[in-house]
Amino acid sequence: MSDHSLPAPSAPAADFSVKPVLLGEKVLLRPFTEEDVPVMARILDDPEVGRLTGSPPGLFDTDRLRAWYGTRNDQKDRLDLGIVDRAGGGLVGEAVLNEWDPHNRNCMFRILIGPGGRGRGLGTEATRLIVGHAFEQLALHRVSLYVYAFNPRARRAYEKAGFVAEGVERQALWHEGEWIDAVRMSVLAPEWAAHRGRP
Ligand SMILES: CC(C)(COP(=O)(O)OP(=O)(O)OC[C@H]1O[C@@H](n2cnc3c(N)ncnc32)[C@H](O)[C@@H]1OP(=O)(O)O)[C@@H](O)C(=O)NCCC(=O)NCCS
Repeated sequence: MSDHSLPAPSAPAADFSVKPVLLGEKVLLRPFTEEDVPVMARILDDPEVGRLTGSPPGLFDTDRLRAWYGTRNDQKDRLDLGIVDRAGGGLVGEAVLNEWDPHNRNCMFRILIGPGGRGRGLGTEATRLIVGHAFEQLALHRVSLYVYAFNPRARRAYEKAGFVAEGVERQALWHEGEWIDAVRMSVLAPEWAAHRGRP
């Protein structure tokens, strides 16, 4: 029997139904409230957010967003948290752990921040906070993400928080007449234990 066929070491069951408040120096991550819907609507309508996340603006109408954000705290298999800029006090974006695979103890991570919050270290810190929660509270083994090749800022923020590029999905996005690669990145539990988001 090779090492790869051994059962995964046992770990406490992850509880995604708990919606924590995660406090950093620059940001606070917290569950969504009803009042967040118009703010998130504006952030999601930002053309740069649309371009870099691969979702065109205007995709989400207010009724859909109300239904979406109104049910995030009821989800038992994913974690959606709003990112609050502690300097200004306002909601600037969201950080999400989703596509949880309990058997293999992994999930995906995604993040988006609107124009008012970018380029000040908030994204890097929010990434460290929610990914830290994934490893330290949810006992996951692996957290992964996709980043498009035309988004070096996001890739840099992820690398600063410990993500390692592990492969390229070639020509995964058709964007303004061009095929764009998607880079797959991940962090593993032993890596996180060694650097805690500061590789
Ligand atoms: C991606 C995102 C979460 C990053 O958060 P942020 O708060 O803007 O990023 P930070 O300020 O923490 O870090 C950005 C880093 O990238 C660097 N950077 C900025 N522009 C860059 C560029 N064009 N090329 C390379 N590095 C760049 C910054 O200098 C900084 O690194 P440093 O601290 O070593 O100087 C945020 O910009 C965002 O949500 N953007 C829009 C949506 C998006 O791209 N989502 C991710 C989809 S995968």
